[in-house]
Amino acid sequence: MSYLKEVIANRRSIRKYQSQSIEKEKIIEVLKAGNLAPSNGNSQPWKFYVLGGEFRDLVCKTFYEFAKDYIPKAPYIPAEKKAGMLEYAKDFGGAPLHIAVSYEICGDKIKDDEALMAASAAVQNILLAAYDLGLGTVWIGGEVLTNKQVLAKLEVPQNHALVAIIPIGYPAENPITPPRKDPDLNEVKWLA
Ligand SMILES: Cc1cc2nc3c(=O)[nH]c(=O)nc-3n(C[C@H](O)[C@H](O)[C@H](O)COP(=O)(O)O)c2cc1C
Repeated sequence: MSYLKEVIANRRSIRKYQSQSIEKEKIIEVLKAGNLAPSNGNSQPWKFYVLGGEFRDLVCKTFYEFAKDYIPKAPYIPAEKKAGMLEYAKDFGGAPLHIAVSYEICGDKIKDDEALMAASAAVQNILLAAYDLGLGTVWIGGEVLTNKQVLAKLEVPQNHALVAIIPIGYPAENPITPPRKDPDLNEVKWLA
């Protein structure tokens, strides 16, 4: 297997981290990978935010406030998994730093969708580059991305929206690959 394929195959969402801090050069390398993503008309509509201390803590608090009501009621989460998920939701398993990614919005649906696509490509580059450097990550979506307090604290511009918050750190777990719905690609429509 080529190294690129190994990275794509073995990157996992990490939900338990060591407390060890991350070298600044590694964060810069990861962000440079994000910055090399493709974008519509090379518009590079993303902004990156590196969050530690009170910024990271606010994200954790906001995510937990939502999760503590949501997880106990979620019918699709097996009862025996709920306590562990609630614990993870307190601080994303102890990740020492977060990276947030926002993208520019202008109110035009097609342009905004394209900016979201480009920013998502940047997020995936970040996840893969982090894995390459021995770092774990998880893409966090949902309510925390639109929380007014979080947007204000991060000083996300009015014409930007968050696409991801990415807890990052040295992993303290080695999860198995969650099953893929169509691993043998039987459902691909070959129209060639
Ligand atoms: C848009 C998006 C939103 C996600 N939101 C969350 C989240 O809020 N919490 C979480 O723990 N994982 C989240 N994930 C991670 C997925 O749960 C994970 O990618 C999926 O289970 C597959 O596992 P893998 O990343 O190890 O391949 C999100 C992933 C994506 C792409």
